[in-house]
Amino acid sequence: MCGIVGYVGKKCCADVLVDALSKLEYRGYDSAGIAVFTENGIEIAKSKGRLADLSEKMKNEGKPDGNVGIGHTRWATHGEPSDVNSHPHRGGEKVTIVHNGIIENYKKLKEMLIAKGRVFVSETDTEVVAQLLDLYYEGDPVAAIARAMQDVTGSFALGILFADHPGKIYAVRRESPLIVGVGEDERFIASDVPAILKYTAKYYLLEHEEIALLDENGVSFCDMQGNTITKELLTADWDMDAAEKQGYEHFMLKEIHEQPESIKRTVMPRIENGLPDLHECGITPESLRNFRSIYIVACGTAMHAGMVGKYVIEKIARVPVIVDIASEFRYREPLIGEGDLIIIISQSGETADSLAAMRLAKKLGATTLAVVNAKGSSIAREADMLIYTHAGPEIAVASTKAYMVQISVMYLLGFELALAKGKIDEAECRRLTALLLETPDYIAQILERKDEIEAMAKHLLDAQSLLYIGRGLDYALSMEGSLKLKEISYIHSEAYAAGELKHGTISLIYKGMPVIAVDTQKALHEKTVSNIKEVKARGAVTFLVCGESYQPDADIADYCFRVPEIDDLLMPMLAVVPLQLIAYHASVQRGNDVDKPRNLAKSVTVE
Ligand code: AGP
Repeated sequence: MCGIVGYVGKKCCADVLVDALSKLEYRGYDSAGIAVFTENGIEIAKSKGRLADLSEKMKNEGKPDGNVGIGHTRWATHGEPSDVNSHPHRGGEKVTIVHNGIIENYKKLKEMLIAKGRVFVSETDTEVVAQLLDLYYEGDPVAAIARAMQDVTGSFALGILFADHPGKIYAVRRESPLIVGVGEDERFIASDVPAILKYTAKYYLLEHEEIALLDENGVSFCDMQGNTITKELLTADWDMDAAEKQGYEHFMLKEIHEQPESIKRTVMPRIENGLPDLHECGITPESLRNFRSIYIVACGTAMHAGMVGKYVIEKIARVPVIVDIASEFRYREPLIGEGDLIIIISQSGETADSLAAMRLAKKLGATTLAVVNAKGSSIAREADMLIYTHAGPEIAVASTKAYMVQISVMYLLGFELALAKGKIDEAECRRLTALLLETPDYIAQILERKDEIEAMAKHLLDAQSLLYIGRGLDYALSMEGSLKLKEISYIHSEAYAAGELKHGTISLIYKGMPVIAVDTQKALHEKTVSNIKEVKARGAVTFLVCGESYQPDADIADYCFRVPEIDDLLMPMLAVVPLQLIAYHASVQRGNDVDKPRNLAKSVTVE
């Protein structure tokens, strides 16, 4: 996903822009560029590759000299990664822009502009917006922005410079997030908070169809009609340290180790007198009790957290739960409606498919509950009810602590719902809630043994493909373990319901094929063991993640990692940690870019 920054102040703009962009690298990108007001007008420096390539280019060709400008990291959607396709883009003589999002009708607009004699140099949809702004620009930036946005369909956050308004940055957004930072006599625009934390923690959230103006006098906001808007100044609860690695080799390892604290920050404020209490999120037992069905809709790891939620809620609250991939849900004419609850789980709160699924469900009459980590994000702001997870900034593309706090919220919801529906009594609810509060300490114990897992991971490195198998909650965990391994080690793997293997997939087993078996559910243990024996008999090398009381024979497990045993229901909180670490160490040992794996972005705000 692209990153936008902008700066108005007294410092060397080029240096500030590149530094701010470096804090957005986690979003994934393949080119970068800046545009600066200089005494010779707006100067652009941009290049394919990393920020280091851009800095090298400026060192060789000259760094634009000025105190006001915009910057961009591009994650290619329209047009390959190249110098000419990188941002910023010019429109005619007056307009220079950076853009995050997708202009859905850019082809039609491009044809119209070409018919009016406009010449294009890039393949991007962004250049179309730049030319459109220039077409409508007659000296009033706000009027030009308002007019151009009427023609545009799609998502965008834009940073805009008008050549005859030196020292001013204009910004506008629809869907794609954008904030306006306010420091000591300096102002910023940015796609996300980490970009500005070094300079200020104070920012405004730009809302849909709002226009911001930043200049030497400060910041101001208006709507598309030019009416002034007053906004609330927010303060980020992150500090720079939190967004840095704090001594860990990778953000992912840091974030895996932050899980105990993240759980405490997320869960403890929602427990009152030993029982779940979500009233500050707009949720009461009464509001939960009457839902006919519950849908949990999300993408990737967040969807896997939803799978845990399904097992937990159905088992103890006895309410039907439908888990769906957001990109499937939104196009299958879902049967959701009045009286149903849809839970949208999202770390970034900006995932396009999850946001669209929530809007569809709302239109169909369902009540929407968002479980989101990023404060003030689109999904967070549009949901009827909202539970913030407090994992803090998750920088690594591979989600770990966000998953952990997402499932911890699933437990809180499940316990409160089960109590509200009378399916468990208060004593049982207290017992389960207390166990949830014990998980951070158990996770800390597991993390102390991470070297054991590093050793296990060595045996996976040369695998062409491997299976993760499990039953019930262990199957949900297998799904998450498999995704983690794939996305950062690039080793192909597949999660499979252990009981389903004999219906075809077991034919894949070759001699020496690694199979990671998750066996934490005592109620299903015997069945899972027989499935492990099936694959072992066919030559698989088995890696077992199980409870500490189980001592598997050599004909079951070639390698075994035992985790402390608590109630079956809460074992995912513990058993996911070795699965995260297996993926992490496999990626490191294969020399991959663990935090920024190829082809991936931290938040997928495009379809
Ligand atoms: C997980 O490791 C991935 N980063 C990805 O599957 C992610 O969980 C998914 O894109 C959903 O993102 P969200 O939680 O920000 O909506």
